[in-house]
Amino acid sequence: MSKQFDYIDANADRFKSELFDLLRIPSVSTDSSAKGDVRKAAEFLSQKLTEAGMDEVRIVDTPGHPVVLGKHLKAGADKPTVLIYGHYDVQPPDPLKLWTSPPFEPVEKDGKVYARGASDDKGQAYIHVKAIESWLQTGGELPVNVKIILEGEEEIGSPNLVPFLKEHKDELDCDMVLVSDTAMFAKDTPSITYGLRGLAYMELEVFGPDRDLHSGAYGGALTNPLNALCEIVAKLKDENGVIQIPGFYDDVIDLSPEEREAYDKLPFDEEGWKKSIGITEVSGEKNYSTLERKSARPTLDMNGMWGGYQAEGAKTVLPAEAGAKISMRLVPNQHPDKIAELFAKHIETIKPAGVRVKVTPHHGGHPAMTPLDFYGLKAAGKAYKDVYQKEPLFAREGGSIPIVADFENVLGVNTILMGFGLNTDAIHSPNEHFSLDDFHRGIKTSARFLEVLPEFEK
Ligand code: BES
Ligand code: MN
Ligand code: MN
Repeated sequence: MSKQFDYIDANADRFKSELFDLLRIPSVSTDSSAKGDVRKAAEFLSQKLTEAGMDEVRIVDTPGHPVVLGKHLKAGADKPTVLIYGHYDVQPPDPLKLWTSPPFEPVEKDGKVYARGASDDKGQAYIHVKAIESWLQTGGELPVNVKIILEGEEEIGSPNLVPFLKEHKDELDCDMVLVSDTAMFAKDTPSITYGLRGLAYMELEVFGPDRDLHSGAYGGALTNPLNALCEIVAKLKDENGVIQIPGFYDDVIDLSPEEREAYDKLPFDEEGWKKSIGITEVSGEKNYSTLERKSARPTLDMNGMWGGYQAEGAKTVLPAEAGAKISMRLVPNQHPDKIAELFAKHIETIKPAGVRVKVTPHHGGHPAMTPLDFYGLKAAGKAYKDVYQKEPLFAREGGSIPIVADFENVLGVNTILMGFGLNTDAIHSPNEHFSLDDFHRGIKTSARFLEVLPEFEK
């Protein structure tokens, strides 16, 4: 291994400057005017995979953004095959005025790189490209068979990746998937994520009178859609934080006593966590800890809300309509379509008289879990230990990577979530950043993982 580690150390500056080049490409998948830039990022990565020495690299077009596919299968049929997954698309950078430096002009500050996509997921995905290079450019071969797919649509719900998986099912045949698109539990605390939440995302619109009305001339004599929306939302949870949609919890697998015990032992600094987001009190579902609430329990939250007058000063008006975007994070074995249906049905039954509601589901995703006894996790644990000199922790995370459930359903394999980010990296927010030290250690951990994996029995 020292050969690969030496190579990674010797080339650290070049790896960093290549990552900066990737971060300069504004590959915002949801912005149709950035289509060319999204493609540019795919081309950049395909070129880097080729330069790394991978045998077969190509860009596969889809009805949306392209998938970069690479294969290097020289280890032999008796060695495991790892499919690496990452995404090169990023979230929009707005609000721009809150960035201290432009989002697509990466800058290094205090050992971190600041740019949109630094942590989610360009920095973490590029780790594996450089780990592959460290094996193929030091006179050797990869110790296991490696396939890699890098997609450009994760942040818009991966609409074309499931069809891609199905179409290339044989070509993507593998023993496991390796993903770096999650966070470590804390700084210098290597962590393996064994569960992700799913998502059902709903838009709720409430309609009342056929136009905005004078709130004096009409107010008090009809249902105000904005008031109605607040009433509806207020009824969705009780005072214990329990979601009131009938059937919502039917398929929830509760944390096992062993899991709760393990959760209690995790070194979670609740005070520090509150401080880090500027709150003084936590809240949530009764009888669950903060850690459980934010990773292993389902949620219901408004993500946005509108209606009526929002500009300067006061305008006396009853709005004709109001609306909200509501996310429900799901846990195994909740089904996003079923939850969306239950939500829509329930809204009809609780809406006040005098308004009409419309519920529109947006893209969702299934929750996912990796069994804790999966041999790939043991190999990942060893790789982390060898680089970070610490045993990794095991925890579930609250975010969603919907394709992970499809790796299991379509390809029939488990996913190893080997995260190198931190929850404080400000992903999706202004001033996103990624520790360059973890970028460097991540490359070593990935390279080491590929080496130790064959030692672990299926
Ligand atoms: N990398 C994140 C998911 C994530 C974030 C996992 C934090 C663990 C911790 C991913 O890029 C993401 O943003 N996912 C979306 C999914 C959605 C677009 C379907 C999410 O979780 O909101
Ligand atoms: Mn991501
Ligand atoms: Mn994201």
